Amino acid sequence: MTTKIAIFASGSGSNFQAIQTAIENGKLDAEIGVVVTDKPDAYVVKRAENFGIPVFSFVAKQYESKADYEQEIINILKEHEVQWVILAGYMRLIGNTLLSAYSNRIVNIHPSLLPAFPGKDAIGQALEHGVKVTGVTVHFVDEGLDTGPILSQAAVDVVEGNRSATEAKIHALEHELYTSTLQKLFKKEIKLFH
Ligand code: GRF
Repeated sequence: MTTKIAIFASGSGSNFQAIQTAIENGKLDAEIGVVVTDKPDAYVVKRAENFGIPVFSFVAKQYESKADYEQEIINILKEHEVQWVILAGYMRLIGNTLLSAYSNRIVNIHPSLLPAFPGKDAIGQALEHGVKVTGVTVHFVDEGLDTGPILSQAAVDVVEGNRSATEAKIHALEHELYTSTLQKLFKKEIKLFH
């Protein structure tokens, strides 16, 4: 059965695009019901519109609390019958309201080999540290910052002295790893917890 998902993003949306393309190419048995963004001007909005996918944009500071905007998001997700929440460059911590509504149904991608370099600018952190190998992690979301159980990882050799080449390799790997991991997850081919 096709899995109904929502993509949460705050930026460019290249992972959103990779997921939608994988769906159209028959590599991922899913349907994106809605894109949720906290940045109404983000490029991901344009990308979603190009595919004719509904977008829910919100501005966090217009709500009294995280619980308030997360409750509104949940209403939207229910309207679209969303089963899984897929974070792709969503720059906010998920709160208890969403975590309990979608318990063990929220996934994130992070551009490092977690638990190394959680949080913002993971690629910059890794290069600053002088690592020779970095990579990509897909993991379940819990209340922490990039701390949930790991679903998959893949490594990238750093291109010495060339940040943009390293970034390009990481992003290309993200697109591949995210779609293949989601397919395995939805087809129950991944052991969920140890
Ligand atoms: C990706 O590097 C992802 O790992 C991180 O945020 C970035 C989002 O990129 N969480 P994009 O918006 O999908 O292009």
